[in-house]
Amino acid sequence: INISNFQKDLITWFEEEQRMLPWRENQDPYRVWVSEIMLQQTKVDTVIPYFNNFMEKFPTVTALAEAPEQDVLKAWEGLGYYSRARNLQTAVREVVEQYDAKVPDDPKQFGDLKGVGPYTQGAVLSIAFDKAEPAVDGNVMRVLSRVLLIEEDIAKPKTRKTFEAAVRELISQENPSAFNQGLMELGALVCTPTKPSCLLCPVQEHCIAYREGVEQTLPIKKKK
Ligand code: ADE
Repeated sequence: INISNFQKDLITWFEEEQRMLPWRENQDPYRVWVSEIMLQQTKVDTVIPYFNNFMEKFPTVTALAEAPEQDVLKAWEGLGYYSRARNLQTAVREVVEQYDAKVPDDPKQFGDLKGVGPYTQGAVLSIAFDKAEPAVDGNVMRVLSRVLLIEEDIAKPKTRKTFEAAVRELISQENPSAFNQGLMELGALVCTPTKPSCLLCPVQEHCIAYREGVEQTLPIKKKK
């Protein structure tokens, strides 16, 4: 794989074809953080109205930190997985107390906040702060398993490390935000679980699975 051509093809496609989504209006780390928490177990179309309402009610870290928990849970009603909302409020209260209400851009400091796992950590640091950190979710594993022909079982917890190492090799140092969002968006719009649109894919020429005709067999997910 020619890394700089891959980066250019992915980023150019993302900049031209990305969906207009409310959390992409700016790089406010609080908005990016809330969106990534909501998107973890919930689809984009469902999240959009919840995200807009949440930002109206709790527009800043401080507003969310000061809100009664019941109001936050009320705004989350229907999204499910309510521990996400409780952990998020715990975390923004830590940000107010420890970091003067500014979301920390240090990977260790941000990653230590309640409810922030490796995916959320990498997503917020890259999208909001343009730090070259991997943000590996199921979409990204699917895309890279195909482009790089990675045949590890994505159901195994250890496999995420393999993909994080791959992203560290591939990620654009000039535009980590567009690179990671490009991988996510490609997985959502083109490199789909079944019937991927390889003929429309901006990185088709880089994709080993396409070249070998095995894209539909990847990623490998063994049942336990
Ligand atoms: N899924 C996870 N993160 C996302 C994002 N930032 N935009 C769209 N879909 C996503």
